[in-house]
Amino acid sequence: MYEGTFAELYDRFYRGRGKNYAAEAADVARLVREYRPTASSLLDVACGTGTHLRHFADHFDDVAGLELSTSMIEISRPQLGNIPVLQGDMRDFQLDREFDAVTCMFSSIGHMRDITELEQTLTSFARHLGPGGVVVIEPWWFPQTFLDGYVAGDVVRDGDLTISRVSHSARVGDVTRMEIHWVVADPESGAHHHVEHYDITLFERKEYESAFAASNLAVNYVEGGPSGRGLFVGIPA
Ligand SMILES: C[S@@+](CC[C@H](N)C(=O)[O-])C[C@H]1O[C@@H](n2cnc3c(N)ncnc32)[C@H](O)[C@@H]1O
Repeated sequence: MYEGTFAELYDRFYRGRGKNYAAEAADVARLVREYRPTASSLLDVACGTGTHLRHFADHFDDVAGLELSTSMIEISRPQLGNIPVLQGDMRDFQLDREFDAVTCMFSSIGHMRDITELEQTLTSFARHLGPGGVVVIEPWWFPQTFLDGYVAGDVVRDGDLTISRVSHSARVGDVTRMEIHWVVADPESGAHHHVEHYDITLFERKEYESAFAASNLAVNYVEGGPSGRGLFVGIPA
């Protein structure tokens, strides 16, 4: 998952598709400061290639990342300078320090397979939160908002690389089974086809809310957010 070729394509594709990480980071920073005006430190969990993190550094003095995939961490390095990214699993990590904000963006939380893992993750986040800290999570779709059979397709050009990504998402029980076909071409090596599969859990809104409560966090759900899936905001209860 998110290793090798797929990690290499990730940034180039989303940059080409126009995902506005700078604006998303500014919006999340504003949201954090509504709850904690003096927030100065932030941990971005499942930070991927570090693009939110790079922009969070414009809003917070002290930022760090946590990410499972070593390929994604490798790709993040050139754009992050001295910003630390630790390799770890969001379900169970121990950084021995606290932050004013813990974020988890772009539905990375949907990689949790069940409520037990969701609760373990929220407990890990709460453990790294200082007094008056804020947790912000961008969820995956809820079962009621997910469009079964959804097809997405984009072609982007980045330098001499052409990347096409077509995905199909279907509901299977309580997961979204997503199949992604990539066709990547450049003048020297020609065109290559890669297929990627993800199962992303369709947690109910109340399941997220219960997981926050189980970690002693009071939670608020904000409609909209970066991808239309909303944002959960948690503060110590
Ligand atoms: C959709 S990407 C989002 C990356 C980044 N937050 C962004 O907004 O571009 C999901 C990320 O979650 C990471 N991930 C998945 N399971 C994880 C886990 N258990 N612990 C930490 N990171 C995980 C993946 O490696 C991947 O980088």
